[in-house]
Amino acid sequence: NWTMDDFIDMQVDEIRQKVGDKKVILGLSGGVDSSVTATLLHKAIGDQLTAIFVDHGMLRKDEGDQVMKALNKDLGVNIIRVNAQERFLNELKGVTDPEQKRKIIGKEFIEVFNEEAKKLKDVDFLAQGTLYTDVIESGTNTAQTIKSHHNVGGLPKDMHFELIEPLRKLFKDEVRVLGEKLGIPHDLVWRQPFPGPGLGIRVLGEVTEDKLKIVRESDAILRDEIKKAGLQEDVWQYFTVLPGIRSVGVMGDGRTYDYTIGIRAVTSIDGMTADFAKLPWEVLSKISTRIVDECDHINRVVYDITSKPPSTIEWE
Ligand code: XMP
Repeated sequence: NWTMDDFIDMQVDEIRQKVGDKKVILGLSGGVDSSVTATLLHKAIGDQLTAIFVDHGMLRKDEGDQVMKALNKDLGVNIIRVNAQERFLNELKGVTDPEQKRKIIGKEFIEVFNEEAKKLKDVDFLAQGTLYTDVIESGTNTAQTIKSHHNVGGLPKDMHFELIEPLRKLFKDEVRVLGEKLGIPHDLVWRQPFPGPGLGIRVLGEVTEDKLKIVRESDAILRDEIKKAGLQEDVWQYFTVLPGIRSVGVMGDGRTYDYTIGIRAVTSIDGMTADFAKLPWEVLSKISTRIVDECDHINRVVYDITSKPPSTIEWE
């Protein structure tokens, strides 16, 4: 794809010119967008970039380790990993409103990031993996905010960084092509998109460690079965959610009163609109059986059959 090669050359030149011999930091969330941004910056300015990987404890199973291996160990990006799960859970204690949760996670992310950033000296630039869709959906250009995305507008107020947002004009699918061109492993780049607030907005209502565990395990089962069925590149995004409701079931001879897992799977081009994916019944059936068998406190699995609009892709 020659246009993407051109794009890389142009961005590398532009970044080098802008940055000179100064230093850049970047908040790595673990997702595709910030990973591609980090790799692009690394290509342009090498060790003048320091990526700060704020692990908020709401990533998918094994995701943090995979990102560290691919970007830090294999590609040589300079990354500081901060383990901050407890801090995030503390801030989220008792909070149930989705927008408030998003704001808290976003704010905490920036606080942890700032603390680390302050330890580094003489940094002039801040790089962010903002995409075109983030710009639009965060209400920067529209009157109504649908959801506040935590990777936009979080510029630290007491530090005076100049912004670098090389993906600002790209859609998700273009970012993936870019990532592969930059040498990020295929599987990592073609991971489905993952929201900044992570599993925190897939546990509906209050976020607790136990609930995060259920979502993380059920999500891993869903992904495993989608992969086994060879569907991972046909479905744009797929994940599980844990609504706070409990319902009655029966297991063995006993009555259960336990939680429900929702499965969300959509096809889409850029996330702006989406159709629910028509997953084969036998795949859904296997997923359902495994989730109930392998996850604690789940006695019911439902499939989300709404499209966007009127729903959004994430439930919060
Ligand atoms: P919705 O739920 O608004 O999601 O239909 C559209 C796409 O955006 C992802 N998403 C986010 N991505 N930060 C992100 O980088 C966020 O805060 C965020 N919230 C939602 C969502 O997973 C879907 O792919």
